[in-house]
Amino acid sequence: MTRKVIIDCDPGIDDAVALTLALFDPQLEVLAVTASAGNVSAEQASRNVQAIIERLDPPRLPRVGTATAADDQPYEDGRRMNGEDGLGNAGFAVSRLHHQHLSEKVICDAVRAAPNEITILCLGPLTNVARAFQRDPDLPRMVHRLIIMGGSFTAVGNVTPVAEFNIYYDPLSAQCVFRSAATKTLVPLDVTRQVALTLDFVEALPPETTRAGLLLRRIVPFLFRSFHQTMGQESFYLHDTVALLAATQPELFESREMAGEVETAGHLTRGMTVFDRRPLSPSRPNMEVMTAVRADAAAETLLRGLERSGLQT
Ligand code: BDR
Ligand code: CA
Repeated sequence: MTRKVIIDCDPGIDDAVALTLALFDPQLEVLAVTASAGNVSAEQASRNVQAIIERLDPPRLPRVGTATAADDQPYEDGRRMNGEDGLGNAGFAVSRLHHQHLSEKVICDAVRAAPNEITILCLGPLTNVARAFQRDPDLPRMVHRLIIMGGSFTAVGNVTPVAEFNIYYDPLSAQCVFRSAATKTLVPLDVTRQVALTLDFVEALPPETTRAGLLLRRIVPFLFRSFHQTMGQESFYLHDTVALLAATQPELFESREMAGEVETAGHLTRGMTVFDRRPLSPSRPNMEVMTAVRADAAAETLLRGLERSGLQT
């Protein structure tokens, strides 16, 4: 049986790899891919979603949602790690944006059409999901599950000492989603960083004779170099692909039910995720938080999945 998913993303190289996996995964029926601002501007994210789908040309074309800017002026984007265009400066051309439907509307329509069946994979800031919930207050209870790549449980942040990028970029939307009645799984940095990938992974990507390989080999080496140049690392992370695995291979993960909140006001702590771990906490758990992953098996699963995408393209 396939699982219906919406992928809300801000491509971004790791978002693009997650899309390359998901669009050819027989377990998933990708109903829609909705763009959000984050790693790049709203307009660039929308173009990137279209460019990725056009280049991969999957057997079932998902609906596409167009991003609009977050209400709050974001402090930072992801161009340092992902390139000016978010896709390793690959300069992929898209003729013009067709399917100009707002991401939050695409989410509302899809969930309303299949109540309690749709998992939303949130790979970027939570702007679109929060707007969908504000537009249609019944929606949180109609979503099967949100799987959110974001936040940090005990690990240090990646954009400030305490904050992870997706939450930091639009903390008010993250707060709205965390507080919503939707069933949620959080995949924080603590877990995504356990899947540290090396040059071997880059070399094992599908060959350029396939559409998936051609795309991946244009963008993934850029991210590998970014991690090396900005952090001196020999390994790199594809955070969003680990969140995808939480949907398709949950048996690889350990998790705990927890009460999680987002700091929206702090001068030093904007976008920090805070979990009430007191033994006699008065807070009720509001989400499942992934705390560990079998890293070798996860990396192997990612490579096998990309190989499958290559074989289909
Ligand atoms: C998250 O931030 C983005 O830059 C990545 O695409 C990922 O979604 C990791 O913190
Ligand atoms: Ca992302």
